[in-house]
Amino acid sequence: MKLFMLWFLLILYPALVAADFVISDAKKLEGNANKGLRENIKIYSFRIDSQVTSRFAHNVITSSGVNHANISKEVFFEVELPKTAFITNFSMTIDGKTYVGTVKEKEIAQKQYQEAVRQGKSAGIVKASGRKMETFKVSVNIASASKVTFELTYEELLKRKLGMYEMFIRVKPNQLVDHFQINVNIFETQGITSLDAEGTFMTNELMQTLDVSFSGNTGHVSFKPTVDDQRSCPECPTTRLDGELIIKYDVERAHSAGDIQVVNGYFVHFFAPENLPRVPKTVVFVIDISGSMMGRKIQQTKEALLKISEDISEDDYFDFIIFNSNIKLWKKSLVKATKKNIAASKAFVSELNAAGGTNINEAVLSAVQLLDEGHSNKTFPATSVSIIILLTDGSPNVGVTNLAAIRANVKQAIGGRFTLSLYCLGFGQSLDYNFLETLALENGGIARRIYEDSDSALQLQGFYEEVAKPLLSGIQMQYPEAAVSDVTKQSFKHYYGGSEIVVAGRVVDNNLISLPSAVTAQGATSHLNFSLEGKVEDTLRQQYIFGKYTERLWAYLTVQQLLEQLFAAEGDEKENLKTKATELSLKYNFVTPLTSLVVTKPEDEAKSTALVADKLTEALRTTEAAPEKPARPTHQRVGSSPSFAEGDPHFVIQLPNKNETFCFNVQQKPGVILNLVNDPVTGITVNGELESTIYASTASTSQNTYIGKLGIVSKKLDVKMEVTLHVIKVFNGQQKMIFHWKEMRNLTQQSFSLSILKGKRLTVSIGDDASFVIVLHRARKMHLKHRDYLGIYTLDSHQLSENTHGLLGQFYHDMEFEIFDIHPTSDPGKTDATLAIKGNKIAVTGKWRKNFRTNSRDGVAIFCWFVAGNGKGLIDGNERDYIVSSLFGHIN
Ligand SMILES: *[C@@H]1O[C@H](CO)[C@@H](O)[C@H](O)[C@H]1NC(C)=O
Ligand SMILES: *[C@@H]1O[C@H](CO)[C@@H](O)[C@H](O)[C@H]1NC(C)=O
Ligand SMILES: *[C@@H]1O[C@H](CO)[C@@H](O)[C@H](O)[C@H]1NC(C)=O
Ligand SMILES: *[C@@H]1O[C@H](CO)[C@@H](O)[C@H](O)[C@H]1NC(C)=O
Ligand SMILES: *[C@@H]1O[C@H](CO)[C@@H](O)[C@H](O)[C@H]1NC(C)=O
Ligand SMILES: *[C@@H]1O[C@H](CO)[C@@H](O)[C@H](O)[C@H]1NC(C)=O
Repeated sequence: MKLFMLWFLLILYPALVAADFVISDAKKLEGNANKGLRENIKIYSFRIDSQVTSRFAHNVITSSGVNHANISKEVFFEVELPKTAFITNFSMTIDGKTYVGTVKEKEIAQKQYQEAVRQGKSAGIVKASGRKMETFKVSVNIASASKVTFELTYEELLKRKLGMYEMFIRVKPNQLVDHFQINVNIFETQGITSLDAEGTFMTNELMQTLDVSFSGNTGHVSFKPTVDDQRSCPECPTTRLDGELIIKYDVERAHSAGDIQVVNGYFVHFFAPENLPRVPKTVVFVIDISGSMMGRKIQQTKEALLKISEDISEDDYFDFIIFNSNIKLWKKSLVKATKKNIAASKAFVSELNAAGGTNINEAVLSAVQLLDEGHSNKTFPATSVSIIILLTDGSPNVGVTNLAAIRANVKQAIGGRFTLSLYCLGFGQSLDYNFLETLALENGGIARRIYEDSDSALQLQGFYEEVAKPLLSGIQMQYPEAAVSDVTKQSFKHYYGGSEIVVAGRVVDNNLISLPSAVTAQGATSHLNFSLEGKVEDTLRQQYIFGKYTERLWAYLTVQQLLEQLFAAEGDEKENLKTKATELSLKYNFVTPLTSLVVTKPEDEAKSTALVADKLTEALRTTEAAPEKPARPTHQRVGSSPSFAEGDPHFVIQLPNKNETFCFNVQQKPGVILNLVNDPVTGITVNGELESTIYASTASTSQNTYIGKLGIVSKKLDVKMEVTLHVIKVFNGQQKMIFHWKEMRNLTQQSFSLSILKGKRLTVSIGDDASFVIVLHRARKMHLKHRDYLGIYTLDSHQLSENTHGLLGQFYHDMEFEIFDIHPTSDPGKTDATLAIKGNKIAVTGKWRKNFRTNSRDGVAIFCWFVAGNGKGLIDGNERDYIVSSLFGHIN
């Protein structure tokens, strides 16, 4: 169970909701106005109200604040939602006046958006963030002493996994809030049998403010900590609320055929029989051991497979196909999961090594063939459920490499059989995930991304857990044709214990008194029939929290399924699906990948500029972008190159665990000090002061600047360092030390260590929190144009908190992005592309930059995607937001 918990926490992170309320000032340039900015906007109330009726969750986040500053401020409202949820409403109320967002067709909204961008207005939008989250963010200018309330509504159908419906609420108010409250009301006609809530940030004291209760049909969770409860320590001005509130529950299963609810002209059928014997399963693990899996990926894959093999039930049959350019079968035919065979497979797995290319086509076809032979030779029971689990980290480059051809081959081999499903696990980022997703969806399975992280092995195991217990195959859900219409998906390949099948539809027979249903499926030993009648509810007697839930649930499920089908569809069919999904999204106010939310920004009312909230899925991005990626420079990307700032100054950004590099330049006047890293939690700040490239005596209008001075502060350890072109000054409490660049020196103190490599490099570690390398670039003697300058490289930042910001620091966190539409330009050797990140679509150009971390003379060339205009769209806000007033100053 412990394992499951971890899996919930780490993998189902997708279903979180985060709330954040940040404030930044666009006109920070003048003086040092940025101190205490955050305090100027006081959030006095923050609440999340969720109403769950029959798994359908309707959530409202309300946040109210007041601008205590004596000037107007730009206020940001930023929340995280699960990618599977649809935003259904947004409004902001400023001094009593409410501005409500409207959902529009994407193309129409895009025009407004582009117009806003053209006028230089920051039309706020944000999409993907984190593993499966997306961020919704808007900003608005608030006059001094004005009040603002943001209200965001989103809806989602809670999924049942491993026997529990799960709901995740991310809690992160960022400041102490007078009225902080989370309220969840659950109504389930089937009766609630268990309800639990826990928070990752909980302490014993906070637990006292969490109230969980259930009885009969209703459940209630409330969390209402006082300001003192919220403090990270007594008297502290900071909040300890930063984490997830996880709510899990299950319902009574009185009838094996589930539960049918017919309300307001729509029906919904929940089918999740429990006490059925397991169907034996036959599993073929198809594992990529190509060269790109080398290192941590193959280690974690092996670790996961060793654990998974212990979980294979004894009456299951299994085999391994490992592939790179070649295909290798562990056993010529599937074997029963006896102790002896498991032990032998473990020995085999332990020996795996990564090398070679990627031949996905042959690997998958071999797996189908293996299962086919097993069936015809009657190696395993005819009723067994067959699954193929494909794990790969790259795109096919050996054998059949045309993706459409592979899809066609696999589809033909599997041939829509009811007992065989293909699941695709995409490991890491450097793969064509849409291809894997389409491949899985076309063959009755699903795809999952396995994130390259310390928990990758657990992610793999967790996935296996979900498909470990097949109870039925070939499930058909039937309703009288004359009574219903517009029914969602009715046939399913597999039903796994702990999950749930949901079907919804419209009721067309107005005189219907009850809706009969019949479910047929193949069980462990025999064919099974389930039947059930759903009584039409008298609208007057309804006790549901919100009455229209059946209709909205139906609409949600229909749109989700249409979006899934859009994947594989082509031509007219695709257009039809798109039209249908768009119509429904507009009708029900869903912000889907086909629609956008538009709010007119109050201060721009006259000019009718708009804020647009967009939902871009990976699926849609690729179906719209050019599918064929032209070759990119391949002779680089030597390992990872953590983010750094160099030169005039150009910033080179490497996101954690990601295989693309971004770069941008910052143009500012000499003397300006830029914040590079700022972590309010560990109190670590790094700033860089710009100096002119040219000697003052040389008259020039050039604005080119280099970093001439760096300031590093650790508030916690009471250490300050000033690194200039000549000396390194360290202030540690009362102690003051000065070192010269020409020294060779290693120094380790309790709170920091530094190592100077004569005239070249300085490595600085601040406690265990972070370390940096500073490179001194010496201009050639007597060079009139150039002078010495500094470069700063991040060596280790993983102990810094997730609140870390700054021009470099904001990129220490993992974030989702996508590079697409890669195309060569008319300029030979140049490549352009589009980068989707932080909700922006940015035109980028391939460039080469040099990393001097280990080689201060020549550097190592790095390919990066260059974002013009001082990193606009890539960095939060604009470059002026990062200006600080002193070398040791910080942005609050
Ligand atoms: C706003 O407040 C600051 C500091 O409290 C003060 O220096 C400034 O003069 C005030 N500005 C106005 C317009 O009142
Ligand atoms: C959206 O929210 C506004 C403000 O709360 C409300 O007046 C409006 O009715 C809502 N719209 C829908 C479609 O729920
Ligand atoms: C990054 O991509 C390159 C080329 O596709 C590949 O050779 C390299 O192994 C990848 N590195 C990581 C860490 O995925
Ligand atoms: C199935 O039987 C055929 C012929 O008896 C044999 O050649 C083949 O190896 C068997 N395959 C499996 C997977 O058992
Ligand atoms: C189940 O239903 C099917 C068709 O509806 C019927 O042919 C079959 O005999 C039924 N099986 C059982 C066990 O009732
Ligand atoms: C400092 O430490 C580095 C690495 O630990 C070592 O290579 C170097 O020789 C040391 N320098 C001095 C002056 O001790």
